[in-house]
Amino acid sequence: MKEAAAIVEYGVPIDPRVMIEPPDPAELELEAGHPGLGDVGYVKRRKDLFALCRRHRLERLGPPLIKYTSEETRIWREVSPKLDELHRMHACQIYLKAKDTLGISKTEIPQLRTLSDRVKRETNMHLVPAEGPLAYRTFYSYIAERGFPVTQFIRHGSHPEFTPEPDMIHDCLGHVPPLMNQDYAEVLTLIGKAANTTSDPLQVLALKRFSWFSIEFGLMEEQGETKVFGAGILSSTGEIPFSLFSKDVRRKPFVTDEVIETDYDPSRMQDHLFIIPSFAWLRREIEGLVRRFGIAVL
Ligand SMILES: [Fe+2]
Repeated sequence: MKEAAAIVEYGVPIDPRVMIEPPDPAELELEAGHPGLGDVGYVKRRKDLFALCRRHRLERLGPPLIKYTSEETRIWREVSPKLDELHRMHACQIYLKAKDTLGISKTEIPQLRTLSDRVKRETNMHLVPAEGPLAYRTFYSYIAERGFPVTQFIRHGSHPEFTPEPDMIHDCLGHVPPLMNQDYAEVLTLIGKAANTTSDPLQVLALKRFSWFSIEFGLMEEQGETKVFGAGILSSTGEIPFSLFSKDVRRKPFVTDEVIETDYDPSRMQDHLFIIPSFAWLRREIEGLVRRFGIAVL
């Protein structure tokens, strides 16, 4: 690869090589300030799940069946009904229907293997066990093969409504239900194929932003109302009302050329959001972008 100038992400210049040659941490890393850091039992559990899920991911074994602890179930039972109440009011119809079809329980933590089988029957996507956040390009290398990486650990119980890294509540209640929609599944797969194929860091960054402002933080216009479909919003009791009602949030129609030029800061509440008309429309947009970039994956 030729030397590329530094590009800016999250407000700071970054080494473009990380976009296309991502690191692969082989050990659990909890960031400074993580609420579980001083809890020996929590760290041990996270390490065990890290090793198990990493092995299942690398050996392509599918999601392992997990025996969840009573503390993990307690956290699920505390957070998931609160989210469900907000979902019924503010999530898009496609999400709500899929959540019901998948039978995601408010009392029992679902087994990802079961969800994976159901999603596979519907859209030919499947779930890949992830030990933690994967580097962007690694993440999309699975999606290119119609596998969506999902975590199987739960956030720390001292702050049930907060997690510094995506956990099972984020993945299961945010990302998994929309995978039941064919257009959404094709949007993801195409982003994955394109991000995994191009060797241009700026194109990877553009695809990452397209994904951030749709898959993670997208809003959708539905029968004259603005609804939520982004997983980052749907998995947070704070982000759902903030995204729709805060005066500090700019909400604009999703214009691809603007979206791919828009930087964001993942460490705070999102104050810049874009609204799509439908998943079918989003699919046409990503197809157009990939074609324009000249990435030969269509
Ligand atoms: Fe996510």
